[in-house]
Amino acid sequence: MRRWASKKAERFEESVIREMTRISTLENGINLAQGFPDFEAPLPMKEAAKRAIDADINQYAITWGSELLREAVAKRTSEYNRIPASGGSNVTICCGATEAMIATMLAVLDPGDEVILFEPFYENYGPDCWISGAVPKFCRLAAPDWAIDFDELERAFGEKTRAIVINTPHNPTGKVFSRSELEHIARLCIEHDVLAITDEIYEYILYDGAEHISIGSLAGMADRTVTISGLSKTWSATGWRIGWCIAAEEISLAIRKMHDFLTVGAPAPLQEAAAAALGFGESYFASLQREYTERRNVLLEVLEETGFGVSRPQGAYYIMCDLGDLARPAETDTEFAMRLLRDGGVATVPGSSFYADPTTGNREIRFCFAKKLETLRKAAAVLRERLA
Ligand SMILES: Cc1ncc(COP(=O)(O)O)c(C=O)c1O
Repeated sequence: MRRWASKKAERFEESVIREMTRISTLENGINLAQGFPDFEAPLPMKEAAKRAIDADINQYAITWGSELLREAVAKRTSEYNRIPASGGSNVTICCGATEAMIATMLAVLDPGDEVILFEPFYENYGPDCWISGAVPKFCRLAAPDWAIDFDELERAFGEKTRAIVINTPHNPTGKVFSRSELEHIARLCIEHDVLAITDEIYEYILYDGAEHISIGSLAGMADRTVTISGLSKTWSATGWRIGWCIAAEEISLAIRKMHDFLTVGAPAPLQEAAAAALGFGESYFASLQREYTERRNVLLEVLEETGFGVSRPQGAYYIMCDLGDLARPAETDTEFAMRLLRDGGVATVPGSSFYADPTTGNREIRFCFAKKLETLRKAAAVLRERLA
């Protein structure tokens, strides 16, 4: 019988994260697996979307994004990320950061090029490399503080290295890359003539005074960095599918071509609403941080109390835990996660799904706390009961 799936499609499996959400629904679980909020998006943004639909903004926007949104992204990027950007030549609006990442890789990578990924990594990056014909190379971040081993990183840079993917604040660990780490990575990029692709989707979700730094703002990096972000996390609207990337004009032109033929464009009325959201004042971002700190603390407390080995996140909205003695001796992360979820339990993501070799990370598990306090308290009660 002829096999129809391409070699590319056979290289990777369906997303474990999204699969855990499906199983959670079947098991009537509390979903702390997939990274999306169970609370509402900001009212003024929703009202702006309604106004845009009522004003009949129903047709394709300019393929690389409405001018209003590109200008709003350029302004925020210039001010917050300290990367001078123009809506005309540097910004491309995509269907989420997800599309921005694959459009970027398709735009800059040729078959056989190598891409360095920090491991553990957000699971899309592996398939993104394979779909682009590139080969991922890994550099391990070491628990519990997820430090970079710069000797290993330097060894990963070679003749074929074309790009390095940075994700700060980092999913799944909550690491926020420091200025000195980013300066070191930038030096390597310049020395080896490599592009930095940086996923900064959690850039406003920071704790305990952590500072977000964009590698694209460092000396010599503006022309060799693609900076990706979007609406999903900061504005609690993962289903709207609005994201963007900022790049030098030559790279932007290549990305815009890929984007055009992948999706034509992001949802037009929601682009209008996104432009309004980007204009929110500083108090919006301050309360986002305050509320996430409270959510993080509720989950941290119960995870520490029940015996998980916890890495305290500096950013993003996940806690990566070591299972320690909570897992039975031969129990894998996936078996543990299923035991925790069954019959109205708590859904998590098995740690192995963040590593290239699934035997790594199989004593780790990830919890998401982008949830109402009420949901987190319910989850805490279930964890206390099941793991006591
Ligand atoms: C690191 C990272 N990048 C990108 C995304 C997806 O972003 P978007 O919804 O904008 O496609 C996620 C979602 O969990 C993520 O964790």
